[in-house]
Amino acid sequence: MIGRRARQIFQAPASHAANGAGSGPETGKTILSVEKLTISFDGFTVLNELDFSMKYGEMRFLIGPNGAGKTTLIDSITGKSKPDRGRIVFDGGTDLTRQQEHRLVRLGIGRKFQTPSIFGSLTVYQNLEVALGFRNRITSLFGGIRSQESDRIMATLEEVALVDRASEVAGSLSHGEKQWLEIGMLLVQEPKLLLMDEPVAGMTRREREKTGELLQSIGSTRSVLVVEHDMEFVRRFAQTVTVLHLGKVLSEGDMETVQRDPEVVRAYLGHGASGNRTVAESSQPRRGTAAGV
Ligand SMILES: Nc1ncnc2c1ncn2[C@@H]1O[C@H](COP(=O)(O)OP(=O)(O)OP(=O)(O)O)[C@@H](O)[C@H]1O
Ligand SMILES: [Mg+2]
Repeated sequence: MIGRRARQIFQAPASHAANGAGSGPETGKTILSVEKLTISFDGFTVLNELDFSMKYGEMRFLIGPNGAGKTTLIDSITGKSKPDRGRIVFDGGTDLTRQQEHRLVRLGIGRKFQTPSIFGSLTVYQNLEVALGFRNRITSLFGGIRSQESDRIMATLEEVALVDRASEVAGSLSHGEKQWLEIGMLLVQEPKLLLMDEPVAGMTRREREKTGELLQSIGSTRSVLVVEHDMEFVRRFAQTVTVLHLGKVLSEGDMETVQRDPEVVRAYLGHGASGNRTVAESSQPRRGTAAGV
């Protein structure tokens, strides 16, 4: 039986753009501050003195044409790409540019990759146990999990609406369910900031809708940065959107404002070979396609 919490998330009608500021004690303060971040690859500047920030309890969408530097920004937040210059200050003082990738979970940062990295031969529940073990080494060392931790796993399964599938092997889940399981694996680690690169790519319309509602639920108590190309999805679920172009913030605000910004329209047209596709019309472009974003 689906839990009450899960039912609220997946079955309640989505309130349009109802995400945004959460109600945590630190709401209003900056959780992430990217300052003058510059990254080059082989002399090609990908992030160009980028300034970007997010607050506690905020869900932010990051959009921009192919090659704008969106994934590179996430890579730099997670320590995968090291900048030439600049700082990334997280949670009141940690400079992430000086952190190793493996320290992130402890710092409270979770990253979701496009291809779900789940353990297909383990059950859904066991996947969450493993994820919890990464956070609490002690758990994996002594085997077995305490009841408190099992409660956390169950609460997470409810949040991602996979309670009914808890004892099934993860490999048998649908594409959308695998994505939700991976999100659950991040949530069980209790991150303060979640980073997601194109979370709804390859999902059916129904799965996208459920994911949007799940993201809203997650974003009500944590900070979430979502990179997304699917403009229909962004319009439906975003409150604040940042447009990245040529490694800088081109525009920021609600989707309506952003898609009317002439600079944004120009940036997107510059990436559309057809010349008549706008940010408002485009949806689900793939890397290297004429549609750009
Ligand atoms: N490791 C790397 N080595 C060399 N060039 C790279 C590397 N990573 C990214 N780039 C280049 O940096 C630029 C920005 O790439 P990035 O993947 O950040 O863009 P993006 O905004 O995520 O694009 P997309 O919407 O297509 O995913 C691109 O020109 C890309 O080819
Ligand atoms: Mg990318």
